[in-house]
Amino acid sequence: MIANKIICFNTRKFFNVFFEKNIKKNYNVTNCFLSLRHYLSEFLKNTIKMSKITVIGAGNVGATCADAIARRDLATEVVLLDIKPGISEGKALDIWQTSALAGFNHQIKGVTNDYSATTNSDVVVITSGVPRKPGMSREDLIGVNAGIVKSVTENVIKASPNAIIIIVSNPLDVMTYVAFKTAKTLSSKVFGMAGTLDTARYKAFLAEEIGVTPLDIQALLLGGHGDTMVPLPRFTSVGGVPVTDLVAKDKLEAIIERTKKGGGELTNLLGTSAWYAPGTSAAYMVEAIIRDQKKLVPVCAYLDGEYGYKDMYLGVPVILGKNGVEKVIELNLNAEEKALLDASAQAVKKTLGVLDTMNVLDK
Ligand SMILES: NC(=O)c1ccc[n+]([C@@H]2O[C@H](COP(=O)([O-])OP(=O)(O)OC[C@H]3O[C@@H](n4cnc5c(N)ncnc54)[C@H](O)[C@@H]3O)[C@@H](O)[C@H]2O)c1
Repeated sequence: MIANKIICFNTRKFFNVFFEKNIKKNYNVTNCFLSLRHYLSEFLKNTIKMSKITVIGAGNVGATCADAIARRDLATEVVLLDIKPGISEGKALDIWQTSALAGFNHQIKGVTNDYSATTNSDVVVITSGVPRKPGMSREDLIGVNAGIVKSVTENVIKASPNAIIIIVSNPLDVMTYVAFKTAKTLSSKVFGMAGTLDTARYKAFLAEEIGVTPLDIQALLLGGHGDTMVPLPRFTSVGGVPVTDLVAKDKLEAIIERTKKGGGELTNLLGTSAWYAPGTSAAYMVEAIIRDQKKLVPVCAYLDGEYGYKDMYLGVPVILGKNGVEKVIELNLNAEEKALLDASAQAVKKTLGVLDTMNVLDK
């Protein structure tokens, strides 16, 4: 029913735009036909299929993510779930009331811990958990968040056995591992959001320094979501120009350091962890999946021998599409880059060791 309304609305919109842009001004039949073909293919490309997205946790990151998903009109059903009564209902209603202003069609529904409302979701984003406070590391959150992520994942997978699950809760690499071991689904369907955020921060700092649009910057980061992450200047360019030709070595090193501590900088300013860029980064990943964009982005992905690591999650470049992680890209790293990645993997393994002592996962 809703889908029909959307298709009718979009079809009307399509013919209005086509009429305005072509028929009124252009009487040449061949040109008209070619234009019609072009507009039709663009229209079909941009028209969403029936899809359902759930966001768990209606706190700062979850609500921002749900808002970004709604604004991008990514799904015919969006559900926001939180354990605290009223919060997701209230935030979903507030987001829905922006629809006429922001220009989106699909209603977003808020529920209190009711997983039946999330049944058969295509993509689920898990943001539930405690955020950092100033002075805390992401690893300090493990005790509380491992239990939350485990119980949430059990409920999610029961309601949506085929869902693709994106983890946001920290410590990211370890929480994604908890979700994967709990969901008992394909590793390509469970992964974490960190690299898209860290890369976006890196691009923002570079854009400011160089005086260019962040949209023209191509960049990659590897490793765990923490101070050991590995920004890669060798894989960073601006409109095809290597970043090392545009930014002095000391300035680039300072930007890399600021990127590594980007989360901490915001936690100190805000008194809690950031949400606009994290929530938008998760929505960006959801869009790549829903629209099958085959984006090459850094994602916290399961490694089964890639880069020499086994049975752990780590930030690596992947192709993201309708099947989730469709391919892990193995870069040909030089010795210095590999050493940095090894150090980052060691830090993640150390936190995994802490998880092991907590007996959260079923043996
Ligand atoms: N991966 C990243 O890059 C990144 C970036 C920012 C924040 N984070 C992490 O995301 C998480 C959320 O951060 P936030 O700022 O939104 O925190 P927040 O406190 O604003 O929101 C967390 C929400 O989770 C809910 N919640 C707790 N237990 C739940 C459960 N069992 N079921 C459903 N909901 C539950 C809480 O009620 C709360 O509304 C934190 O762990 C934070 O560290 C990760």
